[in-house]
Amino acid sequence: MITKNPFVEIVSTGRFLPEHVVTNRDMESIVETTDEWIFERTGIRERRIAPPEMTAADMGTAAARIALERAGLEPADVDVLIVSTATPDRLLPATACDIQALIGATKAVAFDVIGACTGFLYGLTVAEGYISTGRGEIALVIATEKLSAIVDWEDRATCVLFGDGAGAAVLRSSEGERGILGTHHQSDGTLADLLYRPAGGAAIPMDEEVLRNRTHLLRMSGREIFKHAVRAMADSSGKALERSGWELEDVDLVFPHQANIRIIKATARYAGLPMEKVFVNVDRYGNMSSATIPVAMDEAIEEGRLHPGMNLLLVAFGAGLTWGAMTVRW
Ligand code: ACO
Repeated sequence: MITKNPFVEIVSTGRFLPEHVVTNRDMESIVETTDEWIFERTGIRERRIAPPEMTAADMGTAAARIALERAGLEPADVDVLIVSTATPDRLLPATACDIQALIGATKAVAFDVIGACTGFLYGLTVAEGYISTGRGEIALVIATEKLSAIVDWEDRATCVLFGDGAGAAVLRSSEGERGILGTHHQSDGTLADLLYRPAGGAAIPMDEEVLRNRTHLLRMSGREIFKHAVRAMADSSGKALERSGWELEDVDLVFPHQANIRIIKATARYAGLPMEKVFVNVDRYGNMSSATIPVAMDEAIEEGRLHPGMNLLLVAFGAGLTWGAMTVRW
């Protein structure tokens, strides 16, 4: 049995999803695709798309306000505000600073983590570190993603996969033994080119050629990503369980990153986890990068699927490559 002093728990969550639903049938009028192709290959039926004027900071702010209210806290109570996003509103400064200003988290330190789809788990781990070492009492971890702004809407192999949304969680130290137990995180930068935006950063700044070649938009080697994702998430799950002193049977509910139902099912099979224990909502939102796990957790709470004492496994994989798993006693 793992012991920690103190345990750091997720006390509340919140989510925000843009209203506008884009179905697979709608996608048929944007690129050459079919509802059947998308659903069979990915399990996605529809996704939410934010209007042009709505930013990642706006969505993150909405999710954060709900999480804070449910925790009975004011924005000014937050000591550390961490934002995970692959779609920052601006390259500089951090979107966390924008959200800090929008909600009025006046005493917080605010910064972004760039862990792509794994970013929410990385954010939780950093927050846990702040709290468990006494550097702060209240942490707010927000994952907010406006993937619609960076996908290539002319590339049918990627644009059908993604959606927009945000989730947030408030963390503080636990009186008892609830909270984050074991974590395993890993990255492999040698495989960065499997999922990336080639240009638009400081290496290849935006210019007319970049715009013409659309190299500022998301590029992905889907099959390779699929293969690595399944192995890495299964491996990471096993390691996080081992670090928690848990067996597979001890897990009550799994929150996998929601990229694709085939990846989720293959990972569950590979890791030995029955699908009855796996939370799935990819059909309604597509891949919202790091926002998928907090949105899923928030929905599970609302549906009454989370009860005190349950053992949770969170597991994710994304660009970088990055991946990780975390066990949580709810
Ligand atoms: N509609 C119709 N046909 C399509 C579409 C589409 N939207 N997209 C691609 N195709 C075609 C291709 O052009 C190809 O045609 P061809 O055989 O004539 O060349 C054919 O379908 C097969 O393409 P593949 O890319 O080989 O299809 P695959 O079976 O690998 O499925 C998919 C593609 C769904 C992207 C799959 O590789 C996958 O899920 N990969 C994981 C990617 C992912 O989820 N990334 C998210 C980011 S990382 C993360 O979050 C884990």
